[in-house]
Amino acid sequence: MKLTRLCVTFKLSVILALMLSALVACNKTDTGSNAASTNPDAAPAAASAGKAVGFVDTQESKPLVIDVALFDTPAAKEFLATGKNPYIGNEEAVAQGHKIFGMYSCTQCHGPEAKGQVGPGLVGPTFKYPKNATNKGMFETIWHGTNGGMGAKGKGLMDPTDPSNGITPDETLKVIAWIRTHGDITGNE
Ligand code: HEC
Repeated sequence: MKLTRLCVTFKLSVILALMLSALVACNKTDTGSNAASTNPDAAPAAASAGKAVGFVDTQESKPLVIDVALFDTPAAKEFLATGKNPYIGNEEAVAQGHKIFGMYSCTQCHGPEAKGQVGPGLVGPTFKYPKNATNKGMFETIWHGTNGGMGAKGKGLMDPTDPSNGITPDETLKVIAWIRTHGDITGNE
C-alpha cells in the first residue's frame, strides 16, 4: 500500500518536472526568436546612422537622392547599407524578378531573355554604361534612366522620387537578380 503511494507520488513529480522543463524550453525558444526578429531592424538603424551607400545617377554621376523609407524589406535595407544585392542566386526572388521584368515592360525593349531587342542586351559582361556590371550601378540606371532612351524606372517620364510610381527598390533588386542569371557575373563582385 505504502509502496504504491510512493510510486504515484514519484510519477507525479516526474510529470511535474517534465512539464517544468518543457516550460523552460519554451521560454528559451521565445527568447531566441525575439533576438532573431530584432535583426531586420539593424539595417535601418545602420542606414539612419549614415551607413547608407551614396547613389549617383547614370546620366551625370550626380547624387541621386532616394527616400530611405522606400527601402522597406530586409533585402532592400541590406542593399541600402552595403550596395550588395541579397537576392542574387535566390530562386524565389529570381522567379519574382522575371515576372516584374514583364510587368514593367522591360521585356518590350530588352527582350524576353534580357538579351536585347529595341534596347540593348543586359546580360553583360560589357555594358554601354560600365557601372551596370555592379548591382548598385544597374540599380541606379533602372531607377533614374539614361539620356539614350531608357526612361526612369523603365517607364519613360516617371517621377523617380514618387513612391507610388512604378517599380520599388525591392522589386528592382529582384529584377536585377533575374537579369544576372543570364550572364557570368553576379554584380556583387
Ligand atoms: C522604352 C524602351 C525601354 C524600356 C521599357 C526599358 N528600357 Fe532599359 N534601356 C532602353 C534603351 C534604349 C537603353 C539604352 C540607353 C542608352 O543608350 O542610354 C536601355 C538601357 C538599359 C540598361 C543599361 C544597359 C547598358 O548596357 O549599360 C539597363 C540596365 C536597363 N536598360 C534595364 C531596364 C529594366 C530593368 C527595365 C524595366 C524596368 C527597362 N530597362 C525598361 C530601353 C528601355
